[in-house]
Amino acid sequence: MTDTYYVTTPIYYVNDKPHIGHSYTTIAADVLARFFRLAGRDVRFLTGTDEHGIKIVKAASEKGVTPMELADEVVVHFQELWKDLDISNDDFIRTSQPRHEKRVQNLVAELVKRDEIYLGKYEGWYDEGQEEFVTESTARDSEYKSVINDRPLTRYSEESYFFRLGKWAPRLIEHIEANPGFVQPEARRNEVLSKLKMGVEDLSISRRIEKLGGWGVPMPNDPAHSVYVWIDALSNYYTALGVPEIGDEYDGVGGKYWPCDVHLIGKDILWFHAVYWPCVLMALDIPLPRCIFAHGWWTSEGRKMSKSMGNFISREDIASICEEYSVDVYRYYLMRAVTFGADGDFSRTALRERYNGELANGIGNLLSRTFKMIGKYFDGEVPPCGQTTDAESEVIAAAEKLHTSAGGFMDLCAFEKYLDLISSLTTATNVYIERTQPFKLAKDDSQAERLATILYTCAEAVRLILLYLRPIMPATCERALEAMGVSAEATFSQAGAWGALEASTRVRQGDPLFPRKQ
Ligand code: MSP
Repeated sequence: MTDTYYVTTPIYYVNDKPHIGHSYTTIAADVLARFFRLAGRDVRFLTGTDEHGIKIVKAASEKGVTPMELADEVVVHFQELWKDLDISNDDFIRTSQPRHEKRVQNLVAELVKRDEIYLGKYEGWYDEGQEEFVTESTARDSEYKSVINDRPLTRYSEESYFFRLGKWAPRLIEHIEANPGFVQPEARRNEVLSKLKMGVEDLSISRRIEKLGGWGVPMPNDPAHSVYVWIDALSNYYTALGVPEIGDEYDGVGGKYWPCDVHLIGKDILWFHAVYWPCVLMALDIPLPRCIFAHGWWTSEGRKMSKSMGNFISREDIASICEEYSVDVYRYYLMRAVTFGADGDFSRTALRERYNGELANGIGNLLSRTFKMIGKYFDGEVPPCGQTTDAESEVIAAAEKLHTSAGGFMDLCAFEKYLDLISSLTTATNVYIERTQPFKLAKDDSQAERLATILYTCAEAVRLILLYLRPIMPATCERALEAMGVSAEATFSQAGAWGALEASTRVRQGDPLFPRKQ
């Protein structure tokens, strides 16, 4: 039986078009999915859209359309962008789909049956942009405005169903303490733990459905109420797998992928994922996900992104960056520029510097020098590797480290450390060429075997760099690997170790992989 790997992104609100922040999580999830597929795992990668809730109802009414019309229009922007960015999701869930709505009702009915839900009254503040309840003290501290978008909070006073969150909080604390990897990064885990230890109240999980113009999933026990949008949304990670089984055509399609390996999210939605979701799952006796990883936020050119400030990185801006460089360069930059988990700043200048430094001068230059020399001295065929010497040892060591450590870093979503391994191998190989000076040896016939060993070493390093870079830059690496005769099916276990490159493989020098930019 193959080991499964299940990765998810948040499902995105359809009140507005996608921007850099959405693309960041989705690209990171895609990198994990591609990596683990190449590592031989049975991967499921899910993304989708969050279509219910007051936020969508309001956005639709401002535009004079129905929520369904708005969702149908905006979802296309997400789906097209994912296609443009080479995202390899296996499924795309929309919370307005019957397959999801029916399963949410089924899960809520089970909570009712287990007496995990009771009728009470909610009185307090609500942040409609975040679809989040706000405590009296937080509301006072923020002058009754949203801490995220500064809009006034809404006052609610209505009958509502509550989920017994408080009852499950102690069990959750135990789980987080016993499983250090459950909430990541570490600093976020500590934040969640200390907030949990201050005590949590039961969670209001329904809204009067008429306040939402009927847009939502009706509570199965009382259709005058609809299920709170976050409970509806979080369930997508489970319902998309066709569980629980309800007798439709989706039944059990992906049941084997649960529990999820990693929910990738942004730091602003950590509490929902690290507290509400696991407590609901515990109440239902469903195993908890292995890891919830909260990444940081992107600012742009040093400031918080905002449409009015003109530094917003919209779908159109992403398209223009991809046109100037390539989709793969955009993917590389997002994964490379900041430690996953920390905040980062997007700047066109920094992008150009990294592109020229690491891609054009680093990997691109190594590849073109290597292929050129193999073309010139060995008619384009990788020469056989003779006796290796100390000179090769650093390159081989860097390649072996990449092979043995790559999986561990991907498991921890440590993309920057993974990319450091690739860049160490690139640097070691470029330094190796400087030191061994193959272009000089080529003038001396008695050095033919040594020259062959050096160029084999360079070609093998290039192959491994491309192979491991492939999850991040799929199109570029597949093209270049093909020019080295490496099959698209090559997995890390068959092809990831040093020495798998066969002598006499033909290499073709095509256009430069990363032409320098001014
Ligand atoms: N619908 C909810 C998620 C439900 S998941 C069960 C939601 N949607 S969202 O569209 O508002 O945001 C989705 C993600 O985008 C969040 O993870 C958020 O952190 C991320 N980002 C929004 N702006 C961002 C940046 N400027 N930078 C990085 N990510 C950011 O929340």
